[in-house]
Amino acid sequence: MTKKRIAVLMGGWSTEREVSLDSGRLVGTALQELGHDVIPVDVTRNLNQLMIDLTPKPDIIFNALHGVGGEDGAIQGLLEIIGVPYTHSGVDASAIAMNKVLSRKIFEREGIAVPPWKIVMKKDIDAAHPMPLPYVIKPLNEGSSRGVFIIKSEEDFKRFQKEWAFGEKILIEKFIAGREIQVGVMGDKAIGAIEIRPREEFYDYTAKYTPGRAEHFMPAPISTEAYEHVLNLGLKAHTVLGCRSVSRSDFMYDEAEDKFYLLEINTQPGMSPLSLLPEIAAHSGVSFNQLISWMLDQAKCDYAPCAH
Ligand SMILES: Nc1ncnc2c1ncn2[C@@H]1O[C@H](COP(=O)(O)OP(=O)(O)O)[C@@H](O)[C@H]1O
Ligand SMILES: [Mg+2]
Repeated sequence: MTKKRIAVLMGGWSTEREVSLDSGRLVGTALQELGHDVIPVDVTRNLNQLMIDLTPKPDIIFNALHGVGGEDGAIQGLLEIIGVPYTHSGVDASAIAMNKVLSRKIFEREGIAVPPWKIVMKKDIDAAHPMPLPYVIKPLNEGSSRGVFIIKSEEDFKRFQKEWAFGEKILIEKFIAGREIQVGVMGDKAIGAIEIRPREEFYDYTAKYTPGRAEHFMPAPISTEAYEHVLNLGLKAHTVLGCRSVSRSDFMYDEAEDKFYLLEINTQPGMSPLSLLPEIAAHSGVSFNQLISWMLDQAKCDYAPCAH
């Protein structure tokens, strides 16, 4: 690839800001190693500043943002307007994937099992347990396990009531006792599945981003049939939402039932040193720099004719 000017969007204002800064730094280094000019852009809600940072227009925008604003179609919409090719999924796939309710409805319709779920209002949960224990409470659109409460006891419930800060509308779902398997997709291919075994109760924010707090098993040590099956499900989840480039899908595997439940698909998977997609890619023979280079090749605008 010839030398390009590439803006790396990172930071943002979501709860995953620090993770994104880590991803962005690593991506920037890879892009430099690949011989490109890198413009690091710390994205805030100051649009004037963002436009200044993106002037003159870069050749490609590498989106290393995570969470609200950067993973939910908002920034993608802006990039469509300015018409610079950008990495990862477009506006609608990003918005739907980030919305745990809309995405669940599509997954169910397409025959991808999700844990039994419902939407309840905070005041109703305060009055009575919304389903038999154990269950999981989560925000409608957060990431990195922020705001996820596993309710197995009255004590857990009290902690939820004290700490909840994610709005009135709440997603409740059945707790799936099982193994946590994540599938990486590159384009039209599921490239591998990894198992995560958190040392703590569940794969929370600390376990995700502190070295040694979760064990990774790559490839996931499950039967060949189960492995093939979950790869197919990961690719299907990517395809039915119309995702572009890379994604990482989180599944819970109930071994007794031999059934996979999709928790979510991440359209902006982490690119930090502990991140799972780069680890899955490496195992399939794709180095970090090759992955970044391939993602650049996939960059485009979905709607607006790109300026380039
Ligand atoms: N229904 C469930 N059953 C068991 N564990 C769950 C369930 N939902 C979430 N978890 C645990 O919480 C973590 C975060 O949940 P997830 O839905 O992936 O939210 P986030 O968008 O914050 O990553 C999962 O990786 C898993 O460890
Ligand atoms: Mg998750």
